[in-house]
Amino acid sequence: MADLSSKAQVAKRIHCHKSCFWIVFKILVQTSSLELFMYFRIRNPAFGLFSTHTNFSLISSSSSQRSYHHLMANLSSEAQVGKRLEGKVALITGAAQGIGACMARVFVNHGAKVVCVDINEELGRSVCDDLGAENASFLYCDVTKESDIENAINRTVHEHGKLDIMINNAGIADEGKTSILDNDLSDFERVMRLNLSGVFLGIKHAARVMIPARSGGIINLGSISGSIGGITSHSYSSSKHAVVGLTRNAAAELGKHGIRVNCLSSHVVLTPLSQNFFNFGEEGQSRVYTNLEGMVLKPEDLANAAVYLASEEARFMSGHNLMLDGGFTVTNPAFGLFSRF
Ligand SMILES: NC(=O)c1ccc[n+]([C@@H]2O[C@H](COP(=O)([O-])OP(=O)(O)OC[C@H]3O[C@@H](n4cnc5c(N)ncnc54)[C@H](O)[C@@H]3O)[C@@H](O)[C@H]2O)c1
Repeated sequence: MADLSSKAQVAKRIHCHKSCFWIVFKILVQTSSLELFMYFRIRNPAFGLFSTHTNFSLISSSSSQRSYHHLMANLSSEAQVGKRLEGKVALITGAAQGIGACMARVFVNHGAKVVCVDINEELGRSVCDDLGAENASFLYCDVTKESDIENAINRTVHEHGKLDIMINNAGIADEGKTSILDNDLSDFERVMRLNLSGVFLGIKHAARVMIPARSGGIINLGSISGSIGGITSHSYSSSKHAVVGLTRNAAAELGKHGIRVNCLSSHVVLTPLSQNFFNFGEEGQSRVYTNLEGMVLKPEDLANAAVYLASEEARFMSGHNLMLDGGFTVTNPAFGLFSRF
């Protein structure tokens, strides 16, 4: 008898579990939460495409696919149209042309007020004129001079009341001499002075005004030649490796003040700098290896990545070296499974 009653209890429990499952399932269907449930199912790496456990019948019905695509379309269109830097004040060095000028434009499109600094006054002013006086202003500043940087940051705070984002973008490349014996110390030091000391000064004076505000984001421009050797000159490669180290050290110190410091490293982008160094156009750029065959990196890609690093969406990201390199630095195409040789 005791045996029979325990069997009855087990059967009752199973029945109860089944009922609960169907009630939850019906609620999910009725409230459309099934979409989110399925989204979780296909986004959870413990239970995904490459797992042996995923029940694909759940996500293969046409209505589920529609829901998923609808969800993704909403997410991406929201990201495209939303102004993600509304109310922020950004200072961008080297903003008269190339990547810096593009960042200024994209930042203004995202609602930021931008202060463009450069040694090229004519080009810098024309960039700001195009963006409108209410959105952008130009200041002459040589980033290798501490008094210039100090002054640019003081004037930014005086004009806008704060500095939220500092972009240390100004940089140069020297001539690509293929033997170290032909490299002059003066050339080496000139590049280090701008690409490394300029970034140091930018971080130092941005931190000076960000520490009391207990917030801020600093973005330093790195390069693929800051992660691997053999691409550019000794000075340029050394300076970009050092920028990654400086970024990490500054992030380690400034995090306690609510300041995030990150590096944005780039594959080749067509700008006056790269054209002078590599002496090639779009055709040449497209021949430099990336995993993303047929695609080339544009200044807008870097500007969009900088928007992300500067925005609240990256609030937990600090000391990071974000690579926009199409997989260049993580692949050796000379030898391997996917190589032709
Ligand atoms: N273009 C690329 O392929 C590439 C690749 C990787 C990294 N980067 C990095 O991106 C950044 C921007 O490069 P870009 O290609 O737009 O270069 P660019 O030459 O087109 O622009 C650099 C800007 O910096 C300004 N500048 C030079 N010296 C300065 C100084 N002392 N003070 C203030 N401004 C000064 C120039 O006048 C110019 O407007 C650099 O740090 C560069 O190393 C570029």
